[in-house]
Formats: sequence, structure tokens, C-alpha cells
Amino acid sequence: MRDLLPLALLLAAPTHAFWRLPCPAPLTIERLDPIVSPGKVSAHAHTILGGNGLASNMTYNTTQASTCSSCTVIGDNSNYWVPALYFQHKNGSFESVKQNGGALVYYLQRAPKGVSMKAFPPNFRMVAGDPFRRSDQNDTEQSAISYACIDYNAPGTPETHAFPTRNCPNGLRQQVFFPSCWDGVNEDSPDHTSHVAYPVGGYNGGKCPDTHPVNLISVFIEILWQTDKFKDFWNPDDKNHPQPFVFAHGDPTGYGGHGDFLNGWDIPLLQRAIDTCTSNSGNVEDCKEFKLRPDKQAEGCVLENNHVDEVVTGVLPRLPGCNDVTPGPDRAPLPSGPPTCGATTTLSNKTGTAASQPSIDGWKYVGCGTDSTSARAMTAARSASDDMTNAKCASFCSDGAANKQGKGFKYFGTQYARECYCADEVRKEAMPIEGVPGTCKMACSGDGSQMCGGYGVLSIWQRAGGDDGVTKGKSRKRFEEHVARHAVKARKIAS
Ligand SMILES: *[C@@H]1O[C@H](CO)[C@@H](O)[C@H](O)[C@H]1NC(C)=O
Ligand SMILES: *[C@@H]1O[C@H](CO)[C@@H](O)[C@H](O)[C@H]1NC(C)=O
Ligand SMILES: *[C@@H]1O[C@H](CO)[C@@H](O)[C@H](O)[C@H]1NC(C)=O
Ligand SMILES: *[C@@H]1O[C@H](CO)[C@@H](O)[C@H](O)[C@H]1NC(C)=O
Ligand SMILES: *[C@@H]1O[C@H](CO)[C@@H](O)[C@H](O)[C@H]1NC(C)=O
Repeated sequence: MRDLLPLALLLAAPTHAFWRLPCPAPLTIERLDPIVSPGKVSAHAHTILGGNGLASNMTYNTTQASTCSSCTVIGDNSNYWVPALYFQHKNGSFESVKQNGGALVYYLQRAPKGVSMKAFPPNFRMVAGDPFRRSDQNDTEQSAISYACIDYNAPGTPETHAFPTRNCPNGLRQQVFFPSCWDGVNEDSPDHTSHVAYPVGGYNGGKCPDTHPVNLISVFIEILWQTDKFKDFWNPDDKNHPQPFVFAHGDPTGYGGHGDFLNGWDIPLLQRAIDTCTSNSGNVEDCKEFKLRPDKQAEGCVLENNHVDEVVTGVLPRLPGCNDVTPGPDRAPLPSGPPTCGATTTLSNKTGTAASQPSIDGWKYVGCGTDSTSARAMTAARSASDDMTNAKCASFCSDGAANKQGKGFKYFGTQYARECYCADEVRKEAMPIEGVPGTCKMACSGDGSQMCGGYGVLSIWQRAGGDDGVTKGKSRKRFEEHVARHAVKARKIAS
């Protein structure tokens, strides 16, 4: 995603400082909206990024109890979300559209010269865009919501406020620019927008109105949807199957695009970054205030259990929550009551982990690590079979036969449903990170109820009572210390 610079933004203000915060994967996709529907199941599905403290009813403190984030700046446990996108097939079924990565969140220093910008206060939250719009309102709020039809062969294609009506060969980029002027008093408002405003001269920078005099840093989210994967399922000239992409809230126009931000920053850190990170390269690495977590760790930061126990991806007969498609041009009606198609209205009470593992005598589950074919996590012995389970791998790695020294190994790991690896030492970068659940969600080929790693990830087990065979590097150690400190702080806040 990082190569897709928003041309318009760069040209608009080439001298303004900014940084791009990468969020390599969604934290979760579900019918949750802690701003608009606190403590409830939301009316529509969102793709949500950021800290795993996410909860249906959350405060700033909740964000600070995160143990990881799907965005890479350590110290930003904010949550960012936009509606999920679906493709409606000609037969009426909906199919979820995949994202390319997670999101790129731009932090743009767009205050007028000489005006200082403030970090968001605790509990600050806001919504950009209006989900009920189905036609172009030709106002600042509308300009802040846009779409780029990505076509490497036709760069510079103008951005639109509606969904493009042609296939975008390299995907559809959804863009949400948040208001950057604040009333200086309210961290939220009943409509979640009136405590903030856009600058006088337009959405993307300038002087704040007198009603909202405090300049905040501007937040701008980009999500790249793989709409091109559906190119063979529609034809722009087919009048019986008009523009087929639809947001989770039933919007097939794009005018109802919106985004939500809930502040979870380490506020002094954000303020220091605002004051000192004045590079206009956009590279987050150029901001010396920031420490970054590796992409793999951010990708592994996924919720173990969703708050709403229902399927919202794949092919579905209805949009999640059974929202109707409302093409407008009038404003979409408010839902008249709870969904009538049997969609759940209660939050899940599951507390177990999706990756919970069976108990195996003499072994303990360490967590979900990462692996790659170019630098294997465990290299001493391996096997694979179509009836693999964790116990089977344990027994292979315990058996003196696998180990030339005639004794069992200290670690084993299962991967890609059917592979088994053993070692006395695990490559340090491959070890699971405390607080990062990981994506070991592939069922074992020999037992569908337990997990045997996944693509590029490994379910790692350690011989119980054995010493730690991991060789620790300096940076690794620093990171672990940080995580440990953070966990203590998080527990304090949560209790
Ligand atoms: C959410 O928070 C509000 C305000 O503190 C409270 O009234 C409500 O009961 C909470 N709901 C849940 C489900 O925790
Ligand atoms: C509609 O078409 C899609 C794509 O071919 C297919 O996956 C889905 O199962 C179909 N739905 C029904 C109800 O037949
Ligand atoms: C949009 O608004 C501008 C200025 O407010 C006006 O000049 C223009 O004609 C409007 N366009 C449409 C399509 O209404
Ligand atoms: C959790 O929810 C299920 C289904 O709604 C219910 O049967 C169960 O009693 C609940 N468990 C707890 C501990 O509340
Ligand atoms: C949040 O945490 C701070 C510091 O631990 C505490 O003083 C404050 O009361 C908490 N606020 C809420 C709303 O729980």
C-alpha cells in the first residue's frame, strides 16, 4: 500500500509536514461501533483497526489496556474504523471484499503558519461523513469523503465522491478526511460530529472557525479494497446489474461513506510528534519520537473472539444485520427496529481464546510465532502428514529417533495444518510476542478442533519445566521489556 501516494494531497500542500501510520491488518471485522452504538451490537459491520483494547463500551482508559495494536506506532492504541464493503452478485448474494493490508492513516500538519496544533484529549472521539447520505450534498463534509479508482495505467484519474462505475484494475481506495477543528471543550457530542468542524477554507487545512477554535492535527484514512477481484462478475454496461459494490450500511452510492476515530494515543507522545516531527517525507520512520512494532506483530494483533458472534465475511444472503440496499437519492431511512431476519442483537460473552489448544502432557503452549521458508523458526527436525495434531507432533519431537542426541527436543511447532517442526532453540524473531494473539487459526489436518499454525505462522509449544532455549538479541529484549512494562500499566488501569 505504501507506494500509493495520494497525489492530490501531496500537491495540495507540498510543504506541510505529515507522517503515514501503517496499519498492516484489520483488528477485527464485525458489527461493532463503540462511538455510535456503545454497549450494543452496531447496525452495520465495520472493519476496525488499532488497539486490541477495543470494547463495545469503551473509554480512553480501555484503549490504554491494549496489549497490542494492528497499527505499527507503539503508543498509538487508538481505534479507526470504516464500514465493511461487499460485492452484490447478480443473484442477490453479497460477498465481502478483501482489503489490501489494513489501512494507512495519515497524520497531517495542516494548521496555518504560526498556529500550534493540539493532540487529541483523553476520551476524544469523532465521526466523519454521514452514513445516511445517498446523493452528493456538495458541501465540505462531502468533499472529505472520496474514492480513488486505482489504475496504474491511467494514473491521475480524478477522485470521486461516489463509487466509480467501472472496474478499478488495481483496486478501490476509500478515503476519509476527519475534521481538524475542535470546540476545545467537548470530547464528544450527541451526533459525534458537532464538537468538531472542518477549517473555514475547506476540509483539508487552514484556519479554524471561531466556534471551533482549536487546531488539531488532521487525520486522513485510506483503505484499499480489492474490488478488481470481482471484475468478471459484472459489466458496467449491464443495466440489470448496476454498480455492484455496497457498504455494510446498504449504501451502493458511496456518498454515505464514513469513518470513526477514537483516541487511544499516548497523548504526550502525540504532542511531541506534532511539535517535532516536521518532515514532509511522510515516512513514519523519520519521526524520531516513534518506536515501531514490526508489521508481523501488528498483523498478529487480531481479536481472539469477536464481540459479535456472527459471520460477516464470505458469501452471505443478506448484509450483516440484514440491512437493505438503499440507493437513494433520498436520505436512507433510519432502521425502524431491530433486524427482522434473525441477526443477533446481543453481544457475545465468549471469553475463551479462538486459538485455545488441548493440553499435552509434558508440554505447554507458548503461543503463535512467525515463520518463513527463507529463515525457519525451528530447523532441527521436521515431518508432515495428513493426520497431523499437536500431540502427534509432540510425540515426533519427543522421540529420541528424531534427535540424533537421543533425547527429545525442547520445542515443537505445528504449521499450515499438516507440518511439524522440532528444535532446542527457536529463532528469536520467530517467538510469539506477549499480548499479541497471532493468527494461528488453521485447523490441524488430523483434528479440526485444534489449531496447527497457519500460513507463515506456527503454533509453538515448549517442554514443560525446560529452560528457555531462545537466544535473545538486544532489540528483542528491549521490546519485551517494553511489552512487560506496558502490561503492568495496562493491568493497573484495567483494575
Ligand atoms: C456503557 O456505558 C454507559 C455509560 O457509562 C452505561 O450506562 C451502560 O450501562 C454501559 N453499557 C454496557 C453494556 O456496559
Ligand atoms: C450467487 O452467486 C455467487 C457467485 O457465483 C455464488 O457464490 C452464490 O452462492 C450464489 N448465491 C445463490 C443463492 O445461489
Ligand atoms: C456546489 O457548490 C458550489 C459553491 O458552493 C457551487 O458553485 C456549485 O454550483 C455547486 N454545484 C452543484 C452541482 O450544486
Ligand atoms: C452466554 O451466552 C449464551 C447464549 O446467549 C448463554 O446460553 C450463556 O448462558 C451465556 N453465558 C454466560 C456465562 O453468561
Ligand atoms: C482512567 O484512569 C485514570 C488513571 O488510572 C483514573 O484516574 C481515571 O479515574 C480513569 N477514568 C475512568 C473513566 O475510569
